Amino acid sequence: MATKLAALIVLAAFLAGPAASEAASICFNGWLRLPTYNPVLCRPRPDVQTRQRRPAPSGSGLTSGYYNTRCPSAEKIVTNAVKKAVDANPGIGAGLIRLFFHDCFLRGCDGSVLLNTTNSKNSDTEREGPPNQNSLRGFEVVDEAKAAIEAACPDTVSCADIVAYAARDASYFLSDRKINIQMPGGRYDGRESFSNETDQLPGPFSNLPALQGSFAAKGLTSDEMVTLSGAHTIGRARCLFFSSRFSEMDSA
Ligand code: HEM
Ligand SMILES: *[C@@H]1O[C@H](CO)[C@@H](O)[C@H](O)[C@H]1NC(C)=O
Ligand SMILES: *[C@@H]1O[C@H](CO)[C@@H](O)[C@H](O)[C@H]1NC(C)=O
Repeated sequence: MATKLAALIVLAAFLAGPAASEAASICFNGWLRLPTYNPVLCRPRPDVQTRQRRPAPSGSGLTSGYYNTRCPSAEKIVTNAVKKAVDANPGIGAGLIRLFFHDCFLRGCDGSVLLNTTNSKNSDTEREGPPNQNSLRGFEVVDEAKAAIEAACPDTVSCADIVAYAARDASYFLSDRKINIQMPGGRYDGRESFSNETDQLPGPFSNLPALQGSFAAKGLTSDEMVTLSGAHTIGRARCLFFSSRFSEMDSA
């Protein structure tokens, strides 16, 4: 009982924000949905149910070894930064894989997940959205690789490609070098990032149709969704996202 109460308090604290005062705001259709989801109070939002299936991402314009002539050391610099970080803390590797997923899911793989709010009266960015804030990790690895790459070849390598290479390298090191993905390069960096778009990410309390709908909206099949979900073999999640599935859980 005490555990459940504690979980509720954590959940309430988590949900407390500017929008939490509106009754309707407890009805999250995107990333957050309460375990006690009430279909009468919280009607599925039309855009979640009717999201069109987009064409599958083509990857056209991207090529393997994209920087071999432009900046030969680029991929190696990323690999070294990731190796150092994963050696020190394997969890950072999980963070880098998720960083790539969350980048790609919103506006494509354009590095928009890295953008910070500027002081020019802009809105919050993706990294401040509920799924990302206090959750995404590994930014410092991307920053370190980017700094080293800029020193070697200025204005050449996109941040979006660094995120992609870092996810590939994290998979490689975390799998004892068994997973070695051919990761093409050539992405351009986006200049826009909006926290409200993080609602497009699949939510930990979403049901199957909602999950399928969010992936279909990005041109991804259910089969691909299941395959990609294998990424959860590694990494961490906060208790509040799964404690409701256990009648008793030692909070420690
Ligand atoms: C299918 C829908 C998905 C849902 C609902 C989902 C949800 C979540 C949640 C709730 C967490 C825990 C976050 C926290 O407690 O702070 C998490 C962690 C994670 N997710 Fe997903 N996820 C999904 C798909 C994916 C995909 C497609 C990938 C990558 C291919 C991925 C990679 C990860 C990784 C690696 C972690 C651990 C991150 C870390 O340890 O820092 N997830 N996910
Ligand atoms: C971006 O904001 C985060 C906090 O949200 C901060 O830790 C980070 O240093 C900032 N990065 C830059 C380049 O200002
Ligand atoms: C998201 O926020 C931006 C900037 O505040 C706004 O222009 C846009 O209309 C919002 N999108 C949605 C779907 O609310």
